[in-house]
Amino acid sequence: MSNNNTSSRPLNVLIIAAGLGTRMKSKRAKVLHELGGSPLIAYVVRTVQVLEPQSIVTVVGYQAEEVERAVLAEAGELASFVVQEQQRGTGDAVESARKVLENSQSLVLALYGDVPMIRVETLRNLIEHHNQTGAACSILSVRLENPTGYGRIIRDSNGEFRKIVEQRDANEEERQVREINSGIYCFESKALFDALRKVEPKNEQGEYYLTDVAEIILAAGGTVSVYVGKDAHEVSGINTRAELAEFENRMRRSAIRKLMIESGVTFIDPSHAYISADAQIGRDTIIHPNVTIEGKTIIGEGCVIRSGVRITNSRLGEAVTVKDHSIIVDSEIESNCAVGPFAHLRMNAVLEEKATVGNFVEVKKSRLKRGTKAMHLTYLGDATIGERTNIGAGTITCNYDGKNKHETIIEDDVKVGSDTMLVAPVRVGARSMTAAGSVVTKDVPPDSLVAGVPAKVKKNLK
Ligand code: UD1
Ligand code: CA
Repeated sequence: MSNNNTSSRPLNVLIIAAGLGTRMKSKRAKVLHELGGSPLIAYVVRTVQVLEPQSIVTVVGYQAEEVERAVLAEAGELASFVVQEQQRGTGDAVESARKVLENSQSLVLALYGDVPMIRVETLRNLIEHHNQTGAACSILSVRLENPTGYGRIIRDSNGEFRKIVEQRDANEEERQVREINSGIYCFESKALFDALRKVEPKNEQGEYYLTDVAEIILAAGGTVSVYVGKDAHEVSGINTRAELAEFENRMRRSAIRKLMIESGVTFIDPSHAYISADAQIGRDTIIHPNVTIEGKTIIGEGCVIRSGVRITNSRLGEAVTVKDHSIIVDSEIESNCAVGPFAHLRMNAVLEEKATVGNFVEVKKSRLKRGTKAMHLTYLGDATIGERTNIGAGTITCNYDGKNKHETIIEDDVKVGSDTMLVAPVRVGARSMTAAGSVVTKDVPPDSLVAGVPAKVKKNLK
């Protein structure tokens, strides 16, 4: 029976993320460390957003600005921040939000920024349980084989909740308890902040413990309920780099499995592929070993991605071949193109259908139209190249004069001879040719052959 309807009562989320995370041995705040390409805190923010809270309040402290930016990137205007100047314990962290939440007459869902695996269903179950029991405080617990390090849920002989005891403050008997406090709670805002006033730093660490709030609420005649979660893994926080790597590995394996089972992607060696959870890959695409696919990359059907390739935030059409050791960042490759080996496409490089970019070719902020080829040892920057044009080996767009970047335009059906330097801004007209070693400083009219240093028109090709 749900007496307090969640939809009629506002929900505020409180994310505690002020600490450094000493065990990471890092200068970066723990919640900013990345998992599957996103900061840890982004996962928590994405998950709680599904609950449609009134606001997401984050307690920041260490590297406050960076943490705020990471939260804002996900939650936008839902997000607000309070600062905990000194880390005096989890209770003190929540205390920093008193002004914002004390009189909100809302449910407060409190959790840490470093529990990326928490599922929205579990949070819903906790809230549901909270409403059904009419509790002032509900705690999400789980049972662990090895509870070392966690706060223990202490119950009386009837199994009723009594208190939470931290590992360091627990006696021998309490340490035997395998039911632990996940650190995820649901509170009535008023009860929470009333109880917080009574928390004292009387423990081994001399900190203000949020966990003491439960006992205080109980003593004041309030109800504290415990919801026992089924999945211990999802509430486990990340404390060390070793744990971070384990999470990364698990996430990676599940993303790859999903691509194989649901999308029909072939992995030559699934244990040596690195695929972001946000990537989409079409069926019958073959991924060779040691391929890294990052960010929101979309790869179409029937592509072949050879070893050592990295593709970041890019889009590939169908039947694209990317040969070994190529890097593709923020770029777009249409269907039936070939790239590599050892090619580098970046900053909005666009290859239209059937374009080919080969060995040791770098393409930056440039478009190669249908069927155009640059097969060897070339730099194309700030260039627009027409259809069916051939860019000879060693061609360079000299796009930078030391101060500014300039554009190169090469029209359709041009044959750029080997080792041509195109000194931008410059335009090469349709059907023209540049002889090997030309240094093109002036626009080349259509249908002409240029040669020399600097290149001059030698003849009309018509
Ligand atoms: C806490 C709980 C413990 C629970 C465990 C689950 C307390 C006293 N203990 O222990 O019962 O089993 O979580 O993971 O709450 N933080 C701040 N400001 C502070 C202190 C901490 O922002 O002043 C942040 C930390 O950066 C961290 C989180 O709160 O992300 C937890 O703090 P920590 O001191 O590590 O508590 P635990 O020992 O994990
Ligand atoms: Ca912790």
